[in-house]
Amino acid sequence: MKYNTYHSQYLARFVFGLLLFSTIGCQQSIDITSTDIQPYDIQQSAIFDSAAVVSAHPLASEIGKNILQQGGNAIDATVAVHFALAVVCPRAGNIGGGGFMIVRTAAGESAALDYREKAPAAATTDMYLDSLGNVIADISRKGHLAVGVPGTVDGMIKAHARFGKIKRFGDLVAPAIKLATEGYQISKAEADRLNEYQEAFRKFQSDTSPFLKKEGWKSGDLLVQKDLGNTLQRIENQGRAGFYAGKTADLLVKEMEKGGGIITRTDLEEYSSIWRDPMIGDYKNYRIISMPPPSSGGICLLQILEGVEDYPLAEYGFQSPQSIHLITEAERRAYADRAEHLGDSDFYPVPIDKLSNPEYIRQRMGDYNEKMATQSDSILAGNINISPESFETTHTSVIDTEGNAVSVTTTLNLNYGSKVIVEGAGFLLNDEMDDFSAKPGVPNFFGLVGAEANKIEPNKRMLSSMTPTIVEKDGKLFMVLGSPGGSTIITSVFQVFINVAEYGMSLPDAVAAKRFHHQWLPNTIMTEADMTIDTVTLKAMGHVIDPKVRIGLVKAIHVLPEGNLSVSGDPRHADDDVAGW
Ligand code: DON
Repeated sequence: MKYNTYHSQYLARFVFGLLLFSTIGCQQSIDITSTDIQPYDIQQSAIFDSAAVVSAHPLASEIGKNILQQGGNAIDATVAVHFALAVVCPRAGNIGGGGFMIVRTAAGESAALDYREKAPAAATTDMYLDSLGNVIADISRKGHLAVGVPGTVDGMIKAHARFGKIKRFGDLVAPAIKLATEGYQISKAEADRLNEYQEAFRKFQSDTSPFLKKEGWKSGDLLVQKDLGNTLQRIENQGRAGFYAGKTADLLVKEMEKGGGIITRTDLEEYSSIWRDPMIGDYKNYRIISMPPPSSGGICLLQILEGVEDYPLAEYGFQSPQSIHLITEAERRAYADRAEHLGDSDFYPVPIDKLSNPEYIRQRMGDYNEKMATQSDSILAGNINISPESFETTHTSVIDTEGNAVSVTTTLNLNYGSKVIVEGAGFLLNDEMDDFSAKPGVPNFFGLVGAEANKIEPNKRMLSSMTPTIVEKDGKLFMVLGSPGGSTIITSVFQVFINVAEYGMSLPDAVAAKRFHHQWLPNTIMTEADMTIDTVTLKAMGHVIDPKVRIGLVKAIHVLPEGNLSVSGDPRHADDDVAGW
């Protein structure tokens, strides 16, 4: 079976990781002369006894581990990692964006934090339409008009205030300030990405931008972000007011005025993150705790799981035509519901209970034909647009020594968000407004279509696919996971969970295994380009196969039966790194 190969790769990586730890003992070995290798030692998977962090950057994971070692809990570590990623992973880590966090305490209490951006008060339903009513897609993806009111700083403050153990919030910001002001060496992946976006940066950033470099970036170059350091310092000193008021707010509003954006001081003052009831549902003896609206993640994940629960997936075999067909049909139905019914539940009566009711989902699978694909309605043709550079959200999973767990996904939306940097404040702004449905039936960047439920309205949150998830098995903590990948986030999370729960894979194997994805429209099964599946049988069943470069970048922790922690980043992303002990 395929996953045996993965297993041996995993063992090799694990043994290598152990050697690395015992000989070096530290994850940063700086090699300034190299231009094409990682300036950091990366450990992409490990088994730890007590505590674990996995994030998209070794410096951020290390900071999380340090906070845990200083007596902080998983929430403290997550907040510190979040601020660190705003410095070391500028394309997705952020203070100018937003995200979602699922917490499960050691005592079994769970909570969901929504710090999603919202539309500015001056936003209008047709703000991205031209005089003929056609969508001008570019302005919802780049530039000042694409920006939603950022939620990250308020979110981190609320998370810490409710669950944090480290007394002073500023202590969780401090490591990021050091990284921003002293600088850090960029990885090859970051250098490549920064080089790719120089032209776009030049359009929206002044000569003072730390990201512009005439001679081009190479791995090992020092990236210093003085203005960002000063902004983080204001947040450290003043908390919320260091971002949503005073100098930072002035600079943000000035930036908006300069570029034709619409975020005002009032928008910033009034922004508030929200604790919501997590989406909770059962799959066999597992309990899934995930994100409710304004993310579609929790509802869709539960729908897909419920959709396949009555069928013998394990017996069908890993990625056999039968399995792929069944999962595809469950996904098709979930994403069709997403397009019609999901949006910000503070603005639209999202039928959450109905959509996640097992009886309703069984009914939806009522016309499932084991032999033939159901054809998606072709009227609202979606146009999927997944390219490697679109995987720019970032996920972090943390478990502390007490057994508290955090799953958090945050984003600027696309790479480096709107590409707009707040001049003088040094942080990039999101382009999250593209997650709204600019016009019914017209796909967004991720090919997702929407309707009334997700239309643009002032102060409304745009629908998301981010799916930070925590899973219990028989009442005990079992898994913490999440992913970037736009619309493919939900199906990536689904597959990694299923790979462990149904196919008995080790976590690194489950994460490394190739993935596929169906989102109702377009009517295709996206597959990772180099995966080997029985396309002949699937095509004969009526499916259309569409190979793509890669799907999702999962970061997860699996609590093994003995209680130790199997931790894994995604081999698809060179900078993913685990830390712990
Ligand atoms: O919230 C969402 O669903 C998107 N803004 C996430 C964007 C994303 O995952 C980009 N790339 N990985």
